Amino acid sequence: MTTTDDSPETESLHYVADVDEITDGDRVIVDVEGREIAVFNVDGAFHALSNYCIHQGGPACEGLISGSLEVDDEMELTYDSTNKVVSCPWHGWEFEIESGEHLAPTDYRLPTYRVVVQDGAVYLDSY
Ligand code: FES
Repeated sequence: MTTTDDSPETESLHYVADVDEITDGDRVIVDVEGREIAVFNVDGAFHALSNYCIHQGGPACEGLISGSLEVDDEMELTYDSTNKVVSCPWHGWEFEIESGEHLAPTDYRLPTYRVVVQDGAVYLDSY
């Protein structure tokens, strides 16, 4: 889910980190009421995904963060180096960080959570 600067209901927010503690291309993983959730910084936008892999329960968000292959209008493959994809370290399933969608042509995806940036801090807002 995308970053917002809206004024949220503060009682529903769970503090994650200060903005400058999650650098571009990096992530932090927090425990919120027994659920592990990863918050990623992709090119300055923050996104949150469940760290519980839909394949066999591995730590889906702890693997390699990478760019992705894109197909242009002429069906040429190009590599977008923006860190948009995370690979589960157990068996390599790849997920699009912004949406949680599995990159293979399936309907699988990791649950996403709303992220709020306010006063220089990053919060999860899903509780
Ligand atoms: S548990 Fe994540 S790919 Fe298998």
